[in-house]
Amino acid sequence: MCWWMMGLFLATVLYGRYFYSRHVIHRYLEHAMSNEMGDIEGFYMKSPDSCLWVAVLEDKVVGIVAAVVQQKPGGVVELQRMSVGRSWQRRGVGMVLGRKVVEFAVTHRYSSVVLGTTAYKPAAHLLYQRLGFPV
Ligand SMILES: CC(C)(COP(=O)(O)OP(=O)(O)OC[C@H]1O[C@@H](n2cnc3c(N)ncnc32)[C@H](O)[C@@H]1OP(=O)(O)O)[C@@H](O)C(=O)NCCC(=O)NCCS
Repeated sequence: MCWWMMGLFLATVLYGRYFYSRHVIHRYLEHAMSNEMGDIEGFYMKSPDSCLWVAVLEDKVVGIVAAVVQQKPGGVVELQRMSVGRSWQRRGVGMVLGRKVVEFAVTHRYSSVVLGTTAYKPAAHLLYQRLGFPV
């Protein structure tokens, strides 16, 4: 009886977590699509202060990254939207995309590149470390 109840409790917690995560991801996607990701051309490509690149392999878009200049003194570029399709990861695509943003900053003589990430993204942390960002 006790094991049965513990199993039920665990299953409820796992289902709850799953649906909560799904809800958070859907809200994030909805927000992104009703803003910049729904109008990539208008948001990233019209101004010289921003750009979005896609990585293409075997005629498929396998990764993206964007650069947006922040309205701060000195010209600070923010790296955004770094993402590589799951089945294309660990092939150097993230490095190429990250270098593209650094090149953009150097070409336009911006003083630095900044980015934000969360503690739950160890792969991203290692990638940014390899790109030369301090941890
Ligand atoms: C983070 C991410 C962009 C990395 O892209 P990628 O194309 O796989 O990265 P690369 O192949 O260029 O890897 C470069 C280096 O980063 C590190 N790295 C990348 N993924 C790693 C992983 N899963 N585990 C350990 N190290 C990893 C390694 O040092 C790697 O060099 P190596 O392969 O020579 O060891 C990709 O995992 C991703 O899209 N994740 C989900 C979205 C995300 O977290 N975006 C970042 C938001 S801040």
